[in-house]
Amino acid sequence: MPTALITGAGRGLGLEFARQYAADRWRVIGTVRDAKGKAALAKLGANVKSRRLDVTDRKQVARLAAGLKGIPIDVLILNAGVYGPKGARFGKLDYRAWEEVIRVNVLGPAAVADALIENVAASERRTIVMISSRLGSIAENRGDGDLPYNTSKSALNALAKGLAVALRSRGIVVVAMSPGWVRTDMGGRSAPLAPEESIGRLRKLIGGFTREHSGRFISHDGSGIPW
Ligand SMILES: NC(=O)c1ccc[n+]([C@@H]2O[C@H](COP(=O)([O-])OP(=O)(O)OC[C@H]3O[C@@H](n4cnc5c(N)ncnc54)[C@H](OP(=O)(O)O)[C@@H]3O)[C@@H](O)[C@H]2O)c1
Repeated sequence: MPTALITGAGRGLGLEFARQYAADRWRVIGTVRDAKGKAALAKLGANVKSRRLDVTDRKQVARLAAGLKGIPIDVLILNAGVYGPKGARFGKLDYRAWEEVIRVNVLGPAAVADALIENVAASERRTIVMISSRLGSIAENRGDGDLPYNTSKSALNALAKGLAVALRSRGIVVVAMSPGWVRTDMGGRSAPLAPEESIGRLRKLIGGFTREHSGRFISHDGSGIPW
């Protein structure tokens, strides 16, 4: 039975990843920040376990890694993220809020990947997925989105590519993926994609990943996105 670890698994896309992997009879470890997230995961069945994790808290990251020592993680999904302030334009930037977005969306996934790398290396599938966004593409930037979020996802992409290169010799595949615009708390009600659809597509793609995919930025429809 393969194992998936998903950060931010108490709601939104993370919860949907957990639901679908559990339904597929994977062992799922979902990280949550509160009792509400824990309760949402508990409904998914006995092969889903929750662990407490705020990705910005290094002590919690270390505790998570210590508790999982020796347990192989086939697919590590670095999903937890925040959008940050909307309407963040020059002239009205909140730098504290921007720093927090970077802490959650960039330093968080870096710390979790760093702490759990031996678990991934010990698994069969050896796959790390960073949940990015098309808004992080520098090549496609048309002024949509907001500076804190966009810059955080561009940095996350650089992290994915850097890790892919660094971990290639260990056979670890690292891919940045865009889920599309999805109906979650972050995506809002007018988003065109349902979580089931987006995550169904991502999981199918992840299931087919080989070393060839490492270091790429891939959309939910399977197409490559320019960095
Ligand atoms: N929805 C979209 O249209 C869309 C599009 C492109 C990319 N994405 C990306 O997809 C990922 C999931 O987004 P979503 O739509 O599911 O968002 P969401 O509904 O707002 O859920 C965000 C998740 O991240 C967790 N989280 C936030 N800050 C955290 C922290 N400091 N430590 C640990 N967990 C934290 C939340 O946990 P709590 O419940 O504890 O707050 C929640 O589980 C994000 O990386 C997002 O940028 C989403």
